Amino acid sequence: MTIQLQAKQVSMRFKDRVLFHIPSLTIGPNEAVYLKGDNGVGKTTLLKILAGLLKPTSGDVLPRHQSLFTGLLRGPGRKDVIYLHQSPYLFDGSVFQNVVYGIKHKNLDLHDKRAEVISALRLVGLETLADEHVSVLSGGEKQRVAMARAWVLKPSILLMDEPSASLDQESIERLVFMAQDLLEHGSSIVITSHQTNALTRLCRKQWWIKDCTLIESPLLQIIDKKHKDKENNYVASNSD
Ligand SMILES: Nc1ncnc2c1ncn2[C@@H]1O[C@H](COP(=O)(O)OP(=O)(O)OP(=O)(O)O)[C@@H](O)[C@H]1O
Ligand SMILES: [Mg+2]
Repeated sequence: MTIQLQAKQVSMRFKDRVLFHIPSLTIGPNEAVYLKGDNGVGKTTLLKILAGLLKPTSGDVLPRHQSLFTGLLRGPGRKDVIYLHQSPYLFDGSVFQNVVYGIKHKNLDLHDKRAEVISALRLVGLETLADEHVSVLSGGEKQRVAMARAWVLKPSILLMDEPSASLDQESIERLVFMAQDLLEHGSSIVITSHQTNALTRLCRKQWWIKDCTLIESPLLQIIDKKHKDKENNYVASNSD
């Protein structure tokens, strides 16, 4: 299922400090967004608000066409919007148990669930560690387990908070593959990162939190312009 989330007049304040005010924002269906901004501007806070894990000081975030009343009936958190934490929370158990947890209640027989989890672990390169306890994993491996757990859930919107911070190049490529797969199936993704890399290059739209608000722009043109500038410099330096 793919959904569209719509934020209206969303403000976040901590005590007297206004973090941001965003008059209007939509995400989905099938979008890839790069969320950027300096440390402390509120990227993580915004992702948690979009995931329904944090209530904004004022304003609403609702799936499009859903009234405030039915939104209240659904309770906290949005099952089809997943927030992928920078330091993932894994529970006490094996790698396999952590990944299968998300699809425990899915209407699949045990064999299919196992196959789904093993293919997710294969994609993140951890199938040989399926029976290991998560406490023995490195930071980057834990991040990959969290991505596998998110991927098996096939969320409508995946919010990735600095997913590449502790990952090497090969692990980033694995996450790119999974993110691309979700995009091909109609999901949307939002990625925060302080560096551009193969993951952020999937994005076609940019959200920039700056001066306590959010500026939205298409990313294709920005990448193209940088690319053109590079090409022009190359031509100029080789035409002497
Ligand atoms: N529960 C809270 N109470 C008070 N202040 C908070 C709370 N949560 C976040 N803040 C403040 O809000 C600001 C934004 O935090 P947030 O984690 O969203 O920033 P960020 O843009 O994700 O930064 P970074 O790039 O470092 O991850 C920070 O100054 C933080 O201290
Ligand atoms: Mg953050």
